[in-house]
Amino acid sequence: MEAPTHLNNQPKAVPLQNDLLLRAARGESIERSPVWLMRQAGRILPEYRAVRAQMGGFKDLVESPPHASEVTIQPVDILGVDAAIIFSDILVIPEAMGLPYELVEKVGPRFPEVVRTHQDLKRLRAEVNPEVHLSYVLDAIRLTKRNLAGRVPLIGFCGAPWTIFCYMVEGKGSKDWALPRRMLWEQPTFAHALLDSITEASIGYLQAQVRAGADLVQIFDSWAGVLSDDLYREFMMPRLQRMCEALSPMVPVTVFAKGGGHLLPQLADLDCRTLGLDWQTDPRKARLLIGEEKTLQGNLDPSILYSSPDTIRKKTREMLSNFGTRRHIANLGHGVYPDVNPEHVKVFVETVQKSA
Ligand code: CP3
Repeated sequence: MEAPTHLNNQPKAVPLQNDLLLRAARGESIERSPVWLMRQAGRILPEYRAVRAQMGGFKDLVESPPHASEVTIQPVDILGVDAAIIFSDILVIPEAMGLPYELVEKVGPRFPEVVRTHQDLKRLRAEVNPEVHLSYVLDAIRLTKRNLAGRVPLIGFCGAPWTIFCYMVEGKGSKDWALPRRMLWEQPTFAHALLDSITEASIGYLQAQVRAGADLVQIFDSWAGVLSDDLYREFMMPRLQRMCEALSPMVPVTVFAKGGGHLLPQLADLDCRTLGLDWQTDPRKARLLIGEEKTLQGNLDPSILYSSPDTIRKKTREMLSNFGTRRHIANLGHGVYPDVNPEHVKVFVETVQKSA
């Protein structure tokens, strides 16, 4: 007899009514490109800001499964996107490892403590148990799967080890990440050790997200663009590959390396279904480099959403034709900017959906 859901705490598998995203990722036939937006949950919607205003701050929202679930589903209801992405942040991993983050209004993330020496490494949690240290994300995923009731797939995510390493070393945002890059040269043993801990924690975390109900996972390497081809090959590729190999047997994996146009030939070798492209990358050139075996995701310039609806339609159609109809997931080339008009986002979404 099947265990009652309240005992194993897993969502019942409800068949998806819209599985375009998963079919596109797996390279199966699709009527049209599915569409969602990076950073669609939060920021742009007044409905998000209303929920956010009821809470103490961003972290309270992230750590409250009912509220996190509500703002995860808002873009599905309001914008009509073909996927939901769980409302959380990549910075929950450093926190679970023992390095709490703060989010300072209009400034961004801040870490009161940083990791820069072997001594600092010893203060980190030896083993992250996602069911204990990140239970609020997993609960939010389980609740969201229940609330979505199969309308669209739910995307889980984490940051790539390099991007998380950047924040843990620097303690805040940076333009060129000179300090974390310096660490790769000056303290390679330390860098490898920290990157390994982040990788292990991230694998366990993504696997737990899938067990909780995530249908696809995306790895955000937001700061890939500051690494040369050589450094990326040495420090990142083996770890990204480990992550892909650990997750790909469970769900389709997407790797998005922002600023990583120069890295595409090596990213093409990863055991993932989808590669995300930023808006500086020409989809036709990327397809030639990557071949036919992967799905490409992207890549409208997010600033185009500031233009007129007519221009948005024209540019979206141009983008679609550059990707072609096979193995494409429509998205922006990076996260949607916080101050764009949600009506303009709808124009983007509807243009893709009418293009069948
Ligand atoms: O995609 C989604 O809508 C899901 C939620 C999500 C958030 N952060 C919520 C958030 C996701 C996928 C992220 C990922 C993330 N977080 C990345 C990778 C993607 C990227 O943009 O490159 C990075 C680098 C971060 C780190 C981070 N978190 C920054 C730099 C900031 C402050 C500036 C900003 O982006 O708003 C955050 C805070 C944050 N994370 C907010 C949201 C909705 C803003 C908080 C608020 O204003 O309420």
